[in-house]
Order: sequence, then C-alpha cells, then structure tokens
Amino acid sequence: MEFFRKLSLLSKMTLVIALVLFSFFALSSYLDYHREREKMFQTAVSKARLLAEGAIRTREYLSDQYLVGNVEMSEKRFGLIPVVMSGRVGEQVASNLGYHLKQVSERFRNPGNAPDTFEKTTLRKFHQDSSLEEFFTSSTLNGKPVFRYLRAFKAKKSCLQCHGRPEAAPDFIRSRYPVAKDRAYNYELGEVIGAASIRISMEDLKAIFYRNLWREELQSFIIFLALVTCLTLLGRRTIIVPLRHLVEAMNNIISTGSFRYKLVTRKKDEIGRLIATFNSMVDHLQEKSEHLAESERRFRILTETARDAIVSFLSNGQIILFNSRAEEIFGYRKKDVIGFPIDRLIHEENVEIHQKGMENYLRDKADTALSQLHKIVGRRHDGTPIPLEFSLSMAESDGHIFYTAILRKLTVED
Ligand code: HEC
Repeated sequence: MEFFRKLSLLSKMTLVIALVLFSFFALSSYLDYHREREKMFQTAVSKARLLAEGAIRTREYLSDQYLVGNVEMSEKRFGLIPVVMSGRVGEQVASNLGYHLKQVSERFRNPGNAPDTFEKTTLRKFHQDSSLEEFFTSSTLNGKPVFRYLRAFKAKKSCLQCHGRPEAAPDFIRSRYPVAKDRAYNYELGEVIGAASIRISMEDLKAIFYRNLWREELQSFIIFLALVTCLTLLGRRTIIVPLRHLVEAMNNIISTGSFRYKLVTRKKDEIGRLIATFNSMVDHLQEKSEHLAESERRFRILTETARDAIVSFLSNGQIILFNSRAEEIFGYRKKDVIGFPIDRLIHEENVEIHQKGMENYLRDKADTALSQLHKIVGRRHDGTPIPLEFSLSMAESDGHIFYTAILRKLTVED
C-alpha cells in the first residue's frame, strides 16, 4: 500500500487500468479455454458422426441396391459386400483426415473387426439400451490420449440376407463362413449387429486446440495492451498534463509573486473548469494584491511623511513599525530596531517601565495610558536622553494586540 501511495498519479492510473483490464483478460482467457475445449470435443464429435453416418449410409445403400437389383454376391465380388466396401471407403476417408475407422462386432466374422475393451463395453451398452445410438468420450489407448466415438449398427431387412438365417444366406457366404464356426448369422431385425468405431488422436486435437487458443489469447492480449496504452495516453493528455501545468503555474506564482501565469484551456470538462477557476482565482488574487500594494504604499507615504515619530510595537514590546521621523529622533536605522524590544528607546530614568517591563506596565496603566498625553524620557542611539511627549493607541489585528505611539520631541518651552 505504501508503495502504491508513493506512485505518481499516472502510474497509479495505469496500474489500476492494467489490473482491471488484466482481470477481464484473465477471465476471458479462462472462458476461452473452456469454450475452445468444448469446441474441440464438438468438432471431434461432429467429424466422427459424419464419418460414421457416411459408412452407415453407404452400407445401407449398397445392401438395399443389391436387394432391389437382385445382385448376386459371389466370392469374386467380395469387395462389393456392403460392410466390406463401406468399411474400406470409410477407412480411407478417415485415414486421410488422420482418424481411424473400424466396423466392430462382438460376434465378428472377421477377426480384424474384433472389438477392444472399450469397444466391447460400449457395444454392451448398445445392447442393453436400444435407444442409445452413439457414445463418445476421451480415454487412453496404449498410454496415449484418444477421443473415441461409437455408432451402433442395427440390423435392417437387407442385412439379414447375410446375417439372418444361414440357409437364406448366399452360398459363397455360407462356404466362406461355415455356420458351425461363424457367429454373425441369426440376427433379428433391429438388433445391434455392431458399431462404427472412430478414434481420433487427442494429441492432434490438442495441437489444434492450443493453436486456436493461442491465436485467441494473442488477439485478446493485443487488445488488452492497446486498451491500456490508449487509456493511459488519454489519462495523461486529459488529466496529468493539465494538472502538471497547473502545478507549474502555481509554483511560478509562489516563486515570482507575479500573477501573469495563466493557463489556456478550451475544454468544458471538470479539468477545463478547474483551469478556468484557477485563472479567475489568479485574476482575483492579482486584483487583491494590487489593492494591497496600493494601500501599503499609501500607508508608507502617510507614516513616512508624518511630522511626528510613529513607533508601533506588540504587547510584548517588539517593535514592528518605525518611521523616518522616529529614525531622526532616536538616531537608529529602521533595520536596527524593527523586531527588537521597545525598551531600547526608553531611557533608564523611567525606572518603573524598566522594572516592570513594558507589557506589565501597560496593563497596569491601561486606563490612563491610552487616554492621555504622556511625557517620557527617550533614549537615543548614543544613549543621550531626549524628553518626549506621546500619545498611545491600541489596536488588534490577526489576534495580536499592538500599540502605536505618536511621539514629539519636547522643546525647552514645553
Ligand atoms: C452380402 C452379404 C452381406 C450383407 C448384405 C451385409 N453384410 Fe455385414 N458382413 C458381411 C461379411 C462377408 C462380413 C465380413 C467382412 C470382412 O471380412 O471384413 C460382414 C461384416 C459385418 C460387420 C463387421 C463385424 C464382422 O462380423 O466382421 C458388421 C458390423 C456388419 N457386417 C453389419 C452389417 C449390417 C448392419 C448390414 C446391413 C445394413 C450388413 N452387415 C449387410 C456380409 C454382409
């Protein structure tokens, strides 16, 4: 906190703006991270769906076409078998995209279509819940993170040609997959035969994820920097610079005592109003100081041209005014008496004053001191006594009482 207090206004402003924006930046990064992650899964799911859907539709289309066209399947046309063809096409498309596609079944015909542990549990889920059409999750395979997607295959009428009653199956199917050994016969309509299984390496997905995230963060960071810079520059231009000028002008006024330092502003905002008020305050002070100077000048002329000596002093005796006539009478220069006690102007003959001190003396004589003319023996600079007559008046200014003595030298006739 101490550190913050010591900073300049601009640094404080920049720091606060940066902190506030940085919090927003951090929050938005956090949200970005989750959004991108969500997007990563969504992309994986939709791509997997597309592949699975493609494989299913191809296979269904081929099965239907063979049924409608009464196309006879033979050993030579093995590659045209719907699942074989859709599987192979799907595999090629998938591998071009960097994915893996397999058609799996628990009762597989081809050992190459045997399910792994994950596929096995998912197939079981499909068997148990006939409404479940797809299942996906991220898991690991051989210690590497992967995204897995399975889409159930349900037996349609056309599938039952080769997966229904064995006696209805084409000859080459029966000879290639003898009923005794093959388990892929005897499916019922609507039963889950297997699933399209798609595997996407999470490392690839993550690479895309981090690339996207990094791009977004970089963008936000550039915006963050631009905002901090703009706001700081704006603050500097609209607040700090005018304030600095104001301080400079004030310092100039203090150091030179001249009121000609004014500031220019065309703005109508708070800072503009502050400067306008400063300018009118300076005008006001200038006027006042001119009046003061004028009245001081008049006062000086008055005291300096007076034919009587004028000496003002505070109640403790400290001399505050000493005019030219007083200089003549007492033989002192102003600078030698101003600030010194009045005692030095009073001759030792005035025993009472010297004993009591001026303050006590005046307090005791308060009634008479102010109302009468007094005679006193003054003391010149060289120590010679001078008989004087004086009147005393009392006044108060700024909470201080002060006395003014108007003195005249007594002549022999007096
Ligand atoms: C013309 C015969 C024929 C038709 C029609 C047919 N299949 Fe097959 N099916 C096969 C053969 C043969 C295999 C083994 C392919 C191989 O060796 O990869 C197979 C394999 C499969 C597999 C992979 C698991 C395994 O047993 O190796 C699934 C799943 C499958 N078929 C589902 C279907 C579905 C669903 C339909 C209907 C939409 C269908 N099949 C229609 C002959 C057929």
